[in-house]
Parts: sequence; structure tokens; C-alpha cells
Amino acid sequence: MKRRFPKPRDLAPLMQFKKPELNAKKRRLASALTIYDLRDIAQRRTPKAAFDYTEGAAEAEISLARARQAFEDIQFNPAILRDVSVVDLSSEVLGAPVAMPFGIAPTGFTRMMQTEGEIAGASAAGAAGIPFSLSTMGTTAIEDVKAANPTGRNWFQLYMWKDRDRSMALVDRAAKAGFDTLLVTVDVPVAGARLRDKRNGFSIPPQLTPGTVLNALPRPEWWINFLTTEPLAFASLDRWSGTVGELLDSMFDPTVTFDDLAWIKEQWPGKLVVKGVQSVADARTLASMGVDGITLSNHGGRQLDRAPIPFHLLPEVVREVGKDTEVHLDTGIMSGADIVAAIALGAKFTLIGRAYLYGLMAGGREGVDRTIGILGDQIARTMRLLGVKSLAELEPGHVTQLERLVPRAR
Ligand SMILES: Cc1cc2nc3c(=O)[nH]c(=O)nc-3n(C[C@H](O)[C@H](O)[C@H](O)COP(=O)(O)O)c2cc1C
Repeated sequence: MKRRFPKPRDLAPLMQFKKPELNAKKRRLASALTIYDLRDIAQRRTPKAAFDYTEGAAEAEISLARARQAFEDIQFNPAILRDVSVVDLSSEVLGAPVAMPFGIAPTGFTRMMQTEGEIAGASAAGAAGIPFSLSTMGTTAIEDVKAANPTGRNWFQLYMWKDRDRSMALVDRAAKAGFDTLLVTVDVPVAGARLRDKRNGFSIPPQLTPGTVLNALPRPEWWINFLTTEPLAFASLDRWSGTVGELLDSMFDPTVTFDDLAWIKEQWPGKLVVKGVQSVADARTLASMGVDGITLSNHGGRQLDRAPIPFHLLPEVVREVGKDTEVHLDTGIMSGADIVAAIALGAKFTLIGRAYLYGLMAGGREGVDRTIGILGDQIARTMRLLGVKSLAELEPGHVTQLERLVPRAR
């Protein structure tokens, strides 16, 4: 082999070092290429009890694990030689435009995870052209969410609790603030058993014990933010000390039925979506009541464990009610490819819970931007690789659901 001395001219192109990013948050977020990367950053920066509250699910967490597995267990079937130079991720959902086929799911206690909470979520959603959902258990006032996302779409999530007047007063405020959609969550007759919260003694406000103090030491920013910003206040209750499960049980009304839903529907001027539907029969009943949409969801696995997998329910529910009622889906979405698969099997829209919260905990507003950016890029790339340039072109043939543990032919 003949060797030679490298010439400066040959070395120059190899030595184009990128300008280092001096802003630590930007550097941190730029290093996250997937939602799982954001999750890892979030875990390093958030006290264990708050992180576990977000990440955890009910009982043995089987519902959540299965929902994620179901997304992983698909095969995409691409078409070749299509012009995919331009892809369009936008569509119309509940009578108005959305820039991408996902929105931010309602989550409670959001400012506990990171102090910017709902303001970060609502402003990021507004900037990206996707809807933001505020939970009944949210930690930012309805009007402040509207101010953070003044021209974008805001949805309000209702838990019907024992004090009906107070819950309907919130609905009234949401309507006055111009929220265009009411999500009525129906999978919480009682709280699921969130064992991580019990084990962590997770309470609101957080209790200072030797364990929490020790855990706080490497996470000073969270504590500084927590102690130097507006104290946590809930949209719906003034003060609470106890675990989240106890709080939910004290508030939620296990007597709520379809009649109550019809009563709520009469009073709400906008679109109404029922969130937490888990069977074809219930989907049919809701469609016959004339709701605008249903969300197939098991609450991110936080309620009934071993619940049906929303993604598996999707094709049949779409077949049964999809013509008259929009079918939305959540639980387990951790990548844009998951969203593409759901749209291909007939979902009109999806919601992200933890994927948003991991971004929030990793970097506040910019972290949520990063979540939305990662998912948007993954959706666009997956669509291009499948050979489609619009959501309407996605169809069930693009996805094969693989069956696990099927004996191999000999
Ligand atoms: C920390 C946390 C809090 C939640 N709080 C609420 C809530 O207040 N109301 C509600 O309807 N759903 C709530 N959910 C469920 C989400 O709206 C959504 O259904 C779920 O997170 C979707 O699953 P994913 O986290 O895998 O995306 C919560 C979920 C999480 C993770």
C-alpha cells in the first residue's frame, strides 16, 4: 500500500467543527432525538415522586405496556416510486383545521412536573397549530390558558364530580373563554390504583422527608422553580393534602351515567368528545346520542389494568361508527410512526400525554416544542417512506398488525 503525507487541503474539510452551543438547555434538548431521549432527560431533572406520577400507570402497568407493544408490533407496507417531495400533515378535526394529526392530552397537576406547566403546553400547541387540552385537574386557570394560546384551539376536559354546580361552572367559563371542544372523560368512576404514588408517599403539596430532600439535591432547578413561582393552585379545588388517588376518589362521582352525559351535551355550545371509550358497544351508544367524537383510550393505562388496547379496538370501532362520529385515539404514543399507524387504521386524530410531559419536564416550553418537532418530523418521514403525501392517502393496507407468539411453521 502506498502511503503519503496528508496535505492541509485534505484535512480542512475534516476539521469543520460545529460551533459549540453555549446554552445548556438548547444543547440538552438538541441531543434528544426521540421521545424516549426526552424521557431520560426529564428523569434526571425531576424529583422522583413527580416523575413517577407522570410515568406510572395503574396496578402492574400492563395496560400501558401492552398499548405500547401493540404499536411496536406492526409492519408498515410502503409503496414505491411516488412523488413525496411535499407532504401535508394537516387535516380538519371537529370542524376546524389542525396542522398535524395530534394534540396535547389533558393532564392534571401539570405545574407539579415543571413549573411552566399548561402555559408551556398551550403556547407550544398554539405555535404549532395543534389543539391544547386543559384538564379539570389542571393547575392553570382557564382564562390564563386562553391568554397563552389566544388564536389557537383550546379544548376543555371535564370530570363530572360530586359537586355538579362547580363542574358546570368550569364548563361555562371554558365556553366563555372560547374553548371550542369539551372532552368528557368517562373512565374514572373511581381512581385507578397508582401504586408508585402510594409507594413514594406522593402527596400534594410534596412533603419534605429525608428521602425527598436527598432526592432533591441533584435536581436544584426544579426545587428553585417550585419554591420561587406562583404556588400550585388547581382550577377546581383550593387545598388538598393526601395522595392523588385519595383526592380523585373524594371528588369523582361514581353515579354518572349516559343520562348525565346527555345533560352535559345540552349545555355545551361547541363540539363534544367522549374520552375513555373502550368497547364497540359503548361507541355505538355514543354515536347514536350524536356526540361529535369519541376517544379510544384507557387513560394511558392509569385506570383499569389489563384494559383493551385502544389501537386494537380501532378498526372495528371505525367500521361501526366512523362515518358519523370522529374516532380519536390515545394511550402509548411515543413516536410519529405510532400516530401514522393510528391514522392509517382510521383514527381521525390522536392525543399525546406522557410524550408532551416528558418534553415539558426536560425543558419547559422549549421542551414541549422539541416533543412536537420530533413527532412532526417522524410523521412526515414515515409518510414519505410509505409513499404518501397526505393523511387522506393513508389507509389500512399500509399497516399489518403482527401477532406475537404465533408458533413458527416447521
Ligand atoms: C400525568 C398524567 C395526568 C393525567 N391527567 C388526566 C386528567 O386530568 N384528565 C384526563 O382526562 N386524562 C388525564 N390523563 C390521561 C391523558 O389525557 C391521556 O389519556 C394519556 O396520557 C394518554 O396516554 P399516553 O400518556 O401514553 O400518551 C393523564 C395522564 C397522565 C400521564
